[in-house]
Amino acid sequence: MGQWTDRVAVVTGAASGIGLAIAHHAADLGMRVVLADIEPEPLTQARAAVAAKGVDAWAVTCDVREATSVEALGRFVAEHVGHVHLLFNNAGVGGVRLRAWEASDADWQWLLGVNVWGVIHGVRVFTPMMLAHGEPAHIVNTASAAGFVAMGNTAPYALSKHAVVALSEVLYHDLCDVSTNVRASVLCPAWVATNLWNAERNRPSALRTRAPSEDDETRRLQVKAVLEKSRISAAQIAAMTFEAIRTQTFYIFPHPKILRDVAVRMEDILQQRNPTRTA
Ligand SMILES: NC(=O)c1ccc[n+]([C@@H]2O[C@H](COP(=O)([O-])OP(=O)(O)OC[C@H]3O[C@@H](n4cnc5c(N)ncnc54)[C@H](O)[C@@H]3O)[C@@H](O)[C@H]2O)c1
Repeated sequence: MGQWTDRVAVVTGAASGIGLAIAHHAADLGMRVVLADIEPEPLTQARAAVAAKGVDAWAVTCDVREATSVEALGRFVAEHVGHVHLLFNNAGVGGVRLRAWEASDADWQWLLGVNVWGVIHGVRVFTPMMLAHGEPAHIVNTASAAGFVAMGNTAPYALSKHAVVALSEVLYHDLCDVSTNVRASVLCPAWVATNLWNAERNRPSALRTRAPSEDDETRRLQVKAVLEKSRISAAQIAAMTFEAIRTQTFYIFPHPKILRDVAVRMEDILQQRNPTRTA
């Protein structure tokens, strides 16, 4: 894909961070943009900022955990916008940094609900629409470098991102079987300065089973400090992602240094060694 003007991009998690940067990049290329997010206020502001670039932009409040919410997003796009050419299944949450056995049932439900089910619903709802219109189209699922390694204290997040990598690889093969026009990529950043450290703001109260402790706050601020050290901005990641779509590159690694850790893990597997701690 390389024709952007007047094509349609749908971005989940578009009110902040990487999703917002993708929405802006799409607008800079003259695309019409559908911004979907669970946070209404930042979403309204994001839509206004994108529309100020002179393109059509829509804001749709959507909880990607919920099948019906993503289905409603699909209907909105079909009825009010038109054919979808780029889909970014990007909404995600993180920040639960606990030993694998310490994450609560609610922690697992929330993380997997957003990070895994959000992508599943996006693929299920939008892929048939993209295949049906027959025009060039591309799906980008945001995983993470965490989808290729297994750091300590990240069980729900790591599991969710490994799942998104696997889903994306299968999606790629399945699309190649049935279409020459629709392709998929998986975006795998390491650290980027976004609001991910503060993802708890979007946790539904029903899945908030305990009051945040001082330790939780300390861990969150540690994550914030790490994110803010990133030398690559969300805007640069957005630009790299569009370049990958143009060149039909499947694996998008904005921080190629992480591949050293991926190689260590692969060697552990190939040589049947026990897991090496790389981070
Ligand atoms: N920031 C990083 O270092 C980093 C690294 C690797 C991968 N990622 C991934 O990038 C993606 C974007 O995260 P970000 O870093 O821009 O964080 P962010 O918090 O700045 O943006 C995430 C967006 O997703 C939205 N969201 C959360 N729950 C939602 C739900 N249930 N339904 C719809 N929208 C929801 C939030 O409101 C927010 O606007 C995530 O999938 C994240 O896991 C981020």
